[in-house]
Amino acid sequence: MTDLTRNALNIEDLRRMAKRRLTKALFEFCDRGSEDEVAMRDNRAALDHIKLMPRVLNDVSGRDPAITLFGKSQALPLVIAPTGPAGFVWYRGEIALARAATAADIPYTLSSTGNTPMETILAEGGGTQWYQLYVWADVAASLVTVERARDAGFEALVFTVDSPTPNNREFDTRNGVVFPPKITVQGAIDSLLHPRWLVGTLARYVLADGHMPKFPNVHIPDDFPAEKRADFLARNDTLDWDFLRRVRDLWPRTLIVKGILHPDDAVRAADCGANGIIVSNHAGNTNDAAVTPIDALPAVVEAVGERVTIIIDSGFRRGSDVLKGLALGADAVAIGRATLYGVGAAGEAGASRALQILAAEIHRTMGVMGLTDLGSLGRDHVVLLARIPSYGGAVA
Ligand SMILES: Cc1cc2nc3c(=O)[nH]c(=O)nc-3n(C[C@H](O)[C@H](O)[C@H](O)COP(=O)(O)O)c2cc1C
Repeated sequence: MTDLTRNALNIEDLRRMAKRRLTKALFEFCDRGSEDEVAMRDNRAALDHIKLMPRVLNDVSGRDPAITLFGKSQALPLVIAPTGPAGFVWYRGEIALARAATAADIPYTLSSTGNTPMETILAEGGGTQWYQLYVWADVAASLVTVERARDAGFEALVFTVDSPTPNNREFDTRNGVVFPPKITVQGAIDSLLHPRWLVGTLARYVLADGHMPKFPNVHIPDDFPAEKRADFLARNDTLDWDFLRRVRDLWPRTLIVKGILHPDDAVRAADCGANGIIVSNHAGNTNDAAVTPIDALPAVVEAVGERVTIIIDSGFRRGSDVLKGLALGADAVAIGRATLYGVGAAGEAGASRALQILAAEIHRTMGVMGLTDLGSLGRDHVVLLARIPSYGGAVA
């Protein structure tokens, strides 16, 4: 089959391709934000209002976008962020993403709600793999998953702390999306209108695995009543810093806390022994009034830049966005939707295409910025423009 994503020139092209292939409900689940989508729009506006200040006549012929993250070198300053529906948009989409990440020599993060057993993804995806932790109402059961990820050999645990309550995603409610998924008339019609996804993904699960996609990495105790599964998957709203210390004690390797925006929280995460943090507003999916990560980043870097590795995400779609994040002090940029669109459009080939596009854009932007390596990128390379409306994050 011809891979149409070869024709994609940018991430937006991949987004349109994914939109055509996926059901409306699934596409909007991947693409849209919570409430009025203000945070999602702000994420883009904030990045667009940062300008790069190029330097010239530097001989940029030998430029190299490699970085070192947690002591390991990698070819690009990127990480694939965890996205729950990867396995819904493509059959075993998590393996597709992990392989694409491995080919690009960057880490892949598996979401807690993946549809493929973590050990299979680790074995078939290769490369550097991280496991993302959501803590469900049943804490003990969630910690069983941590031990399993540890024993399986994931290199890092990414503990997501910005979602103590369910996301208020009104688009999903209107589209009849429920968690865990159920068959509805609305969903059946939507699926029939998208036969490439219905046959290529959903039917493949049923034929190959004998059932609809499940959550094999969520440890649900055997005696838990089936009709209460939705309650089991409720997020835990009791977590505190002592809990982070508990996770630290359980996890012997790299621990990354995801979803930090306030510098004092970054300090507390470092005090609890985290090796890294992800400055993130969850792509605008959790708190629609939250500050944008790129606006929050400088204060976080000031507070803990010397103590922990800082990754940023939310809204990054171009190589130039990535350079803006690094110039403001991030060590790497995580991407969620960019590769999710790719895998939704064409599996591993589409995810790889997303990474090729970003790699080419990073390489090109380094050239026009007069840079041969990313280590020399700093505050001198960005100009922050005032924004209207502005909430103080941007300066003139
Ligand atoms: C559809 C979707 C599903 C996501 N699922 C998870 C998840 O399971 N766990 C998690 O920690 N973050 C999740 N995220 C957040 C991402 O890890 C990441 O923070 C965000 O997507 C980065 O922004 P970007 O999509 O604009 O690149 C999800 C984001 C999206 C868009």
